[in-house]
Amino acid sequence: MEPIFETATVAPPPSGLRIESFVDGGAGGERALADDVLDGLTRPFKELPPKHFYDAHGAQLFDRICDLPEYYPTRTERAILTANADAIVEATGATELVELGSGTAAKTRLLLDAMRRAGTLVRYVPFDVTESMVRDVARALVDEYDGLDVHGIVGDFDRHLHRVPDPNPEGSRIVAFLGGTIGNFTPGSRRRFLRRIAAMLAPGDHLLLGTDLVKDPAVIEAAYNDSAGITAAFNLNVLRVLNRELDANFDLDQFSHVAFFDREHEWIEMRLRSVCHQSVRIERLGLDVEFAAREELRTEISAKFTRDRLTADLAAAGLQLAEMYTDPQDLFAVSLARKP
Ligand code: AVJ
Repeated sequence: MEPIFETATVAPPPSGLRIESFVDGGAGGERALADDVLDGLTRPFKELPPKHFYDAHGAQLFDRICDLPEYYPTRTERAILTANADAIVEATGATELVELGSGTAAKTRLLLDAMRRAGTLVRYVPFDVTESMVRDVARALVDEYDGLDVHGIVGDFDRHLHRVPDPNPEGSRIVAFLGGTIGNFTPGSRRRFLRRIAAMLAPGDHLLLGTDLVKDPAVIEAAYNDSAGITAAFNLNVLRVLNRELDANFDLDQFSHVAFFDREHEWIEMRLRSVCHQSVRIERLGLDVEFAAREELRTEISAKFTRDRLTADLAAAGLQLAEMYTDPQDLFAVSLARKP
């Protein structure tokens, strides 16, 4: 067969920008929220999944949390990546970075820079639920990194992980899941999620995982009870999301922020405590929800890890812990796990 078009003698670098969106902010997302609220607020121990914190306002509050003096995870993880990015790239030979929950890609450049220095950088795949973030990041990085191929995915990692493009058989992939967000999963769903990540890896590919570490509970609790009250505002914001999206009438003044370290499970729990007995109407669901005085609604767990727990969770997903990079105070870890 004759090619229809003449091919150039020298192929241009495989650079390009492509974005695929699987969430439309419409029916799908709204239904997911409605289902979570219906499931979570009609049972004896009320609970909402933490992903609903992150509307535009919530994402802004989270950015402010990251800069708080008490909130050590973000800056510690950044320091760990700064110190070890070259070692990580050398250990993996990575040509491609897939980043789950890429956000503003604040730490991504540390890894992309190291890949560029090593001369291996080919493709970046940001994956995030917020379309504008994926678009802005993709555009900025295509400009900043000459010849970089960016394939953005707008999706929810509970539903769209399989949309991540297949790895290039000639290359080697790092899937990065940073920030300690893996801690939001309950132990069972955490291993299931790690298995789904492992399915995105070919033998020899790596997972780069950020995890907060078990430490003095006072240090952990301070990070979730900041003196400026930003974490409290972030926690309460989920009620604002319900008011707007589901036409509910939560009075934010009638709930208070609670965060404590559960020593048995080794996780932080955030809750919203009803300050009085009250009934809340969720119009869109035709639902009235009763809160007893002092009744608590769990809004987040954020698990803290030990090396043993991490090794076991990774093994359960068919991954081998290759390296655990930490800071001098052992506050946080960035771990490299290998698909055998
Ligand atoms: C984004 C899940 C890593 O658990 O520390 C920060 C979210 N919640 N302050 C965390 C959060 C309250 C954060 N993660």
